[in-house]
Amino acid sequence: MNPPAYPPRPLPGLGFQAIGAEEEALVLEVLRRKEPFRYYGSDPAKPPPMAAQLEQEFRQYIGTDYALAVTSGTAALEVALAACGIGPGDEVILTAWSWIACFTSIVRVGARPVLAEIDASLNLDPREIARLATPRTRAVLVIHYQGVPAAMEPIELEAHRRGLYVIEDCAQSLGARYRGRHIGTWSDIATYSFQYSKVATSGEGGMVVTRDRRLYERAVRMSDLGNYRPVHAAQVPPQEPAFVGGQFRMSELTAAVALAQLRKVDRIRDHCRALQARIVPRLQGLAGLQLRPVADPAGDIGFELYLFLDRPEWVAPFRAKLDARNVNCGQRTGTYPQYNRDYVKTGLAHAPAASPFRDFKEWPAPGYRAEDFPRTEDLTKRFIALPIGWRYTPADADHIADSVLAVHREGLG
Ligand SMILES: Cc1ncc(COP(=O)(O)O)c(C=O)c1O
Repeated sequence: MNPPAYPPRPLPGLGFQAIGAEEEALVLEVLRRKEPFRYYGSDPAKPPPMAAQLEQEFRQYIGTDYALAVTSGTAALEVALAACGIGPGDEVILTAWSWIACFTSIVRVGARPVLAEIDASLNLDPREIARLATPRTRAVLVIHYQGVPAAMEPIELEAHRRGLYVIEDCAQSLGARYRGRHIGTWSDIATYSFQYSKVATSGEGGMVVTRDRRLYERAVRMSDLGNYRPVHAAQVPPQEPAFVGGQFRMSELTAAVALAQLRKVDRIRDHCRALQARIVPRLQGLAGLQLRPVADPAGDIGFELYLFLDRPEWVAPFRAKLDARNVNCGQRTGTYPQYNRDYVKTGLAHAPAASPFRDFKEWPAPGYRAEDFPRTEDLTKRFIALPIGWRYTPADADHIADSVLAVHREGLG
C-alpha cells in the first residue's frame, strides 16, 4: 500500500517572507542619498529622514507619544531599564519562561532578575507580583509571548499600586492588542525587536516607546552615549542631566527595511488571524487536549497556536505524527526556562563584582532552580506549538486542523 500523500510542508516565517519591492525601494533611497547614518549626512542642516520617519510611523501605529529606534530588541531592553534608572541593588520581576535577553538585560544594568511563574496563557501570572515583590523591586517586565497579549490590566494595576515601573517586552508581538489598545501602551515604557524571526524584521533592530517625556529623554541618552541631539530635543526639550550611555543607534539602512516592514504588519496579522480562525473552532472540546487560553482573543496576532496535552509523555509521539504529516510543530520556539540556562546555573556576569548574585551563599539559590517553578515546568513540558506563517494558505490551515483531529483520533496514550 502507498503511504498517504500529504500536502507539501508550508514555509514558516513572518516578516522576512513578506520582503519585496517596498523594502528594496527604501533601501535604495538611502544608498542613493549616500546617507546611512541617522544623525547627519551631506547637508548639516537636514538630518537624513529614514529612522525619524520610522519613529514617527511607529508611534502613530502603536498610538503612543514617543518612539526611539535602536539596534536590537536586547538593546531596547537595556535602554528601557536604564531610562527607568534601574541598577545595582534593584530587582525586576519577569517570567522564568522568557527569552534570554529578558534576563540578561537586567543583569547587564546591574539589577537582579526575579523569576515568576507563567500561567496557562504562557504569559506572566498576575498574582506573582504580590508573591515576589520586595522593598527592592523596581519594575515588572512583562513579556507578550509569541503574539498573545498578557493580561495587562491586572498586571498594571498590581504593579502601579506598589509604585513599580511596568515595562512591556513586545518583541514577539508587534501588532497585538489588549482590550482594543496596542500592547506597548499599557506600561511606562515598552520595547520591540526587528530581528529575523519577528512579525516585522530588518534582520536586527529594535524600538523603545513611551508616553513619558522624562523616560524618552533618558532612553535617548542611554542609546547615544549620553547625547541628546536636535531631532529629539525638537520633540522634548532637554531637562535631564547627561549620563554615561551605550551606543545603540539604528542606521538609516536598517530603518529603511523596518519602515517598509512596519507598513505590512497589519496585513501579516490579518493573514495569520484568518488562518488561525479556520483552525481554532475545530480543535475545541477535544478530550485530553486544550488550546492556550488568551487574555484577549481579539488582540492575538495568531501566528502560533499552542496545544496542551494532559500528559507530558503524550507530547513527543503526537508531535512526531504531526511532523510525519508535514505539519510544522516546533518544539520550543527557541525559548527555554531561564533557570535551565548556563548563565543562571553559574550566576556569573562578565566580571564577578557585576553579578547581582555575588552575595548569595549557595547558588543556584531558591528561586533560580527548576524545582521552584512547578507550574512553568508542567506547562512547558505539555505543549505543542503550531506556527502559522505569511506563506501559509487556507489549505495549509485546514490541513493543520485535519491532522490534529486525525492524530487525536488515533489516541493520545
Ligand atoms: C521576548 C523577546 N525579548 C527580547 C528579544 C531580543 O530581541 P533581539 O534579538 O532583537 O535583540 C527577543 C528576540 O528574540 C524576544 O523574543
